[in-house]
Amino acid sequence: MKICVGSDHAGLNLKKELLKSLEWEFEVIDVGTYTEEPVDYPDIAKDVCKKIINGEANYGILICGTGIGMSIAANKFPGIRAALVYSDETAILAKRHNNANVICLGGRTMKSEDAIRYVKLWLKENFEGGRHERRINKISKLEEEVIRGIKL
Ligand code: RB5
Repeated sequence: MKICVGSDHAGLNLKKELLKSLEWEFEVIDVGTYTEEPVDYPDIAKDVCKKIINGEANYGILICGTGIGMSIAANKFPGIRAALVYSDETAILAKRHNNANVICLGGRTMKSEDAIRYVKLWLKENFEGGRHERRINKISKLEEEVIRGIKL
């Protein structure tokens, strides 16, 4: 399983902490940022989402100050279901109900030990399918309609 990780400057410290613990267990692709120099989170979201859409990674983790900007940007990409996770429960349900293939975390809003636990809970959880699959399929249909310019 390959996991692609990216952060802006505000998420850099949390990304470093996360990499230390994840690299023991998973194949990790780090797309940056690598320094404290300010960068724009949509650029990083694009790099991570591209890897998933192109099949180079199975999952993505995006970190900015709050996780909000990253989740807004990531959810613009077809096929990406990005969840802003902030508790054990949201981490579990992001996979169980939403089959999120990206999670977004806040480098300025959560402790690194909590964020690491959320990531591990999300990765080991399974999608429940059933009624949740029907709902996810509706999201995919919406994406197609928007892309094709179909009047909603
Ligand atoms: C950067 O200062 C900050 O705005 C960004 O990391 C993020 O929190 C946006 O949602």
